[in-house]
Amino acid sequence: KIYKEPYRPQFHFTPETHWMNDPNGMVYYEGEYHLFYQYHPESSVWGPMHWGHAVSKDLVHWEHLPIALYPDSLGYIFSGSAVMDYENTSGFGSKDKPAMVAIYTYHNMEGEKAGRNDFQSQGIAYSLDKGRTWTKYEKNPVLKNPGIRDFRDPKVIWHKESKKWIMTLAVQDHTSFYSSKNLIDWTFESDFGKEFGSHGGVWECPDLFPINVEGTDEEKWILIVSIGAGGPNGGSTTQYFVGDFNGKEFVSIGNDTKWLDYGRDNYAGVTWSNVPEEDGRVLFIGWMSNWQYATVVPTYKWRSANTFPRELVLKKEDNNYHLNSVPVKELELIREECYIIPNQDIKGNFDVTNTIPFKAIPLEIDLEIAWDEQPQKFGVKLSNSAGEELEAFYSGVNESFTIDRTKLKNISFSDVFASIDKAKISCKTGIKLQILIDESSIEVFVNDGELVMTDQFFSAEKFDKIDVVSSGNNISVKEAKFYKLKSVW
Ligand code: FRU
Repeated sequence: KIYKEPYRPQFHFTPETHWMNDPNGMVYYEGEYHLFYQYHPESSVWGPMHWGHAVSKDLVHWEHLPIALYPDSLGYIFSGSAVMDYENTSGFGSKDKPAMVAIYTYHNMEGEKAGRNDFQSQGIAYSLDKGRTWTKYEKNPVLKNPGIRDFRDPKVIWHKESKKWIMTLAVQDHTSFYSSKNLIDWTFESDFGKEFGSHGGVWECPDLFPINVEGTDEEKWILIVSIGAGGPNGGSTTQYFVGDFNGKEFVSIGNDTKWLDYGRDNYAGVTWSNVPEEDGRVLFIGWMSNWQYATVVPTYKWRSANTFPRELVLKKEDNNYHLNSVPVKELELIREECYIIPNQDIKGNFDVTNTIPFKAIPLEIDLEIAWDEQPQKFGVKLSNSAGEELEAFYSGVNESFTIDRTKLKNISFSDVFASIDKAKISCKTGIKLQILIDESSIEVFVNDGELVMTDQFFSAEKFDKIDVVSSGNNISVKEAKFYKLKSVW
C-alpha cells in the first residue's frame, strides 16, 4: 500500500486510518517487532480505546494487522505492555509454545461517569499465534483498583535475579512496583517518585529496565515516566531517572529532572521487551504528538505518527549518568542517494538546495562541524516559496539549541502549537547533528543523542529548500552528508 496524502509521514509509523496515541505492548518475537498502539478505529479523535497492531522485521517497514484487543464489559483497553512467557509461568501456553501475554489497563467509562475513583484496573490477555489472535483471561482484572483515579499503564519485565515479573504502574504522582510469579497474582512492593523529578502533570506510561553504561559492565536501572503536562517546552513530555532496582525498590541517583526529549512531540514512549540478547540494544519508540494539540492537528484521515525508533544508550562522565537517544541503525535501510558537501571553512550561509540533486523531504542530514570560537548561530533552515521557514539551530551566544516552528502558515488549529523550543547545551569546540526530516516532523539528535528534539510541523506548502545557516565566527565542515530517504510504504 502507498500512503501519499499531504503530511503523511513517509518513514515514520502511522495507522492506515483514524486515531492513534501511545505505542503499547512492544515485544520482539521470532523475527518480528510487534507494535500495538492506542487506537480508535471509528474516528480521528480519541475515543473508545482498542489496541491497534503492526509488525516489522526491521523496525522501519511496517505491516498493518487487524486490531488486537477490543474494549469489553470491563472497559476500554488503555496502555500497557507485552512479554513472552517462555517458562509458561501463567499456564497460558507451554514451554514449546510460549504465550505472548499483554498486560493493559481497563478504563471503565461508566465508573468514571458515575464519579467513582476505581475505574482503572489491570487486565491481561494472551496469544499463542504470534500476536494474531488474543484471548482475554477469564478472571480479569488481575489487579484491582484501590480507589485511586489514575492507576494505569502497566509495564512488565522479567526480573532475572528474583525470578519474578515486575510491573511498573503509573499512579497519579508516582510509580508503584508490583511483583508476580505468574502474571496473574500481583503483590505490591513499593512506591517511587512523589518527591522526585517533575510533577507538572499526572504520571503516565512508565518503563523500568536495566542497561549497561556504554562500553562497561556497570549496570544501572532506568525509570522512564511520561508526564501529562509541564514539559520543558510545554505540554506532555517524558522524563527519566537513573538508579538501582533490587526487585523491590527503585533508588534514584539524585533528584533532578532529566528529559528524554526537549521537543514538544515525543510522548508516552517505552522500550521493546524480549530484544534478543545477542542484539543487546534498548529500543524505544514514542508517540510523536502532544496532548496540547494532538486531536486538532491538520490530518484527517489518520491522526498521529510515532517517533523514528531509537536506541537508548547510557553514558557516564565524571560520575554523571546520561541517557542518550539515537535513531536505530536500521535507518541505513532507507538511505538512498547521498550528497556530500566537501570539507571546507565557511563564513555565512550556504544554500544547499541549489546543490543537492534531490527534493528536500524525506531527508537525513548528518553534520559534523568544528569551530575555534562558537558561532552566533549554526543549524539548518527549511523554506519554501510560500515564505514559510522551519529552523533548527545552535546558538553559541546562549549555548542552547532551538527549533523554531513559528514561521509556518498552518498553525491556527491550536493556540499553543507555534513555538520556539529551546534547550541548554554547551558546544565549545563544535557540534554533531543528525537530523531526520519527514513530511510533517523533524527529529534532531545533537552530539550523538546527548540532546534530542522532536517536533511536528505542518507547512502550508512542501519545504523544498534547505540552507545550512551559520553566522558569527567561521566554522569548519568535517562532515556534511544529505541522504535522500526512501518511503517505507
Ligand atoms: C497517555 C495516556 C495513558 C492512557 C492512554 C489512554 O497518553 O493518557 O495514560 O493509558 O493515554 O489512551
